[in-house]
Amino acid sequence: MPNVLFVASEIYPLVKTGGLGDVAAALPVALRDIGVDVRLLLPGYPAIMEAVSPASTHLSLPLLPGIDAAQICSGTMPDTGMPVYVLDCPRLYRRDGGPYQDAHGSEWLDNELRFAALSKAAALLGRFEISNELNFPIDLIHCNDWQTGLVPAYQQYLHGKQPASLISIHNIAYQGLYGANTVPSLGLPWDSFGVQGVEFYGLLSFLKAGLFYADWINTVSPTYAQEIQTPEYGYGLHGLLGHRKDALTGILNGIDEQQWNPLQDQHLKAPYSVDNLAGKELNKQALRQRLGLSEENPSKPIFGMITRLTAQKGIDLVVPIISDLVQEGAQFAILGNGDKHTEHQLREIAATFPQQISVTLGYDESLAHQIEAGVDIFLMPSRFEPCGLTQMYSMHYGTIPIVRKTGGLADTVTNVSPSNIDNGMATGFVFELESSDVLLQTALQAMLLYRNREMWQQLQRHGMLKDFSWKHSAEEYLKLYNKLVYDF
Ligand code: ADP
Ligand code: GLC
Repeated sequence: MPNVLFVASEIYPLVKTGGLGDVAAALPVALRDIGVDVRLLLPGYPAIMEAVSPASTHLSLPLLPGIDAAQICSGTMPDTGMPVYVLDCPRLYRRDGGPYQDAHGSEWLDNELRFAALSKAAALLGRFEISNELNFPIDLIHCNDWQTGLVPAYQQYLHGKQPASLISIHNIAYQGLYGANTVPSLGLPWDSFGVQGVEFYGLLSFLKAGLFYADWINTVSPTYAQEIQTPEYGYGLHGLLGHRKDALTGILNGIDEQQWNPLQDQHLKAPYSVDNLAGKELNKQALRQRLGLSEENPSKPIFGMITRLTAQKGIDLVVPIISDLVQEGAQFAILGNGDKHTEHQLREIAATFPQQISVTLGYDESLAHQIEAGVDIFLMPSRFEPCGLTQMYSMHYGTIPIVRKTGGLADTVTNVSPSNIDNGMATGFVFELESSDVLLQTALQAMLLYRNREMWQQLQRHGMLKDFSWKHSAEEYLKLYNKLVYDF
């Protein structure tokens, strides 16, 4: 079995902004469960330093020009016991705020240093003399997103045999682009700054560096792996990805069934399961009460959304049709944060129909669970969606997703049709065109089907019975690791 260093810039429950945090928490555990020795490398943010209580390894690494040597500490994740190396560099990571932004939502001005340091630390840990000192000879470094994109670039310039490298793209829209003047401050030689290297239209691109130098590229669904090779979805990187298509695969994410299980979810009023859906109604009632939604028409459906408010998620397709759906008797429970203009629009709509629309702006883990359990229909009309986890949480919770046919949404939701409602296949509603009208028609269709309790319950059961566990994905990753480590 290969020894794997899994490098990530966020991890649930300590520091999370989106699905990457969930993946970093769950995939390594699923890999460990099938016998792979995986260890994490994480930045020493305050929440991580506190929870992991890392002990010094007495290993200090020279990272970037002008940055004092940083310490590698070792510890374990509090809930899963996963072994973690923490990069302790107070100047870069010990500050209040988010992993990428300060408390006001502005990007940290030194993000290029913060994530180059993380990448450099990973590359150095992979060196035989160092990993041997830690008693963990690393066979493969698994990088995730742009924050770790420079790992394979740094590896290029180290002497001796290096571990294999794999980069997973969770979102190609975020690339880590910086001016050419950062090249020397990140300790990269100028000869790396070219088309055959880290350069991207005159800028330094962390993600492009990873995609160019890594031994293999992976993304989080088979459909997204195809889509990113097209100009529409590739954010400028489609050419490179097309060129590297023989080293590019898509492996669907799973969901953490310890955290997301309606039968043992601590955040819920009433547990329930596919064999007894009664608890779902109680959770719906409780959600209405918590959010101040009218209880006059208990049999009407509630639509839910839990999302980062960014253009990716297609919330602008939803905003114009909310009032139409409310006129039809629907209610809304929306939880999200991000784009200020969208936050403002949502606040205004909620003020127009305070008893039918609830908008919670902010990040609330507990409410996210209560929405998944308490609503009937989950909206996810994403413009692009590398994988998407919330539609899988929905199906697992007997909540019917309405998704746009893209990326992981296309790979995980099967559209209802007269022929597949009886055969156990249909799990939700899938539409193609990026259009509010089409979304409205789909939502009305869902409301119509919702009135047929028997058919609706059939749909719920199909989704709840689907196996979204991480086990399959972990097995796919292991196959890939084996190919990269032993087939070379
Ligand atoms: P993405 O990673 O693009 O944001 P995913 O569907 O893969 O989308 O993952 C989103 C994760 O973040 C899910 O675990 C979801 O529950 C969570 N999430 C998103 N927004 C919020 C929020 N405002 N409050 C609580 N959890 C949220
Ligand atoms: C990204 C994507 C999302 C994916 C998640 C985890 O944030 O936007 O689709 O599920 O990463 O891979």
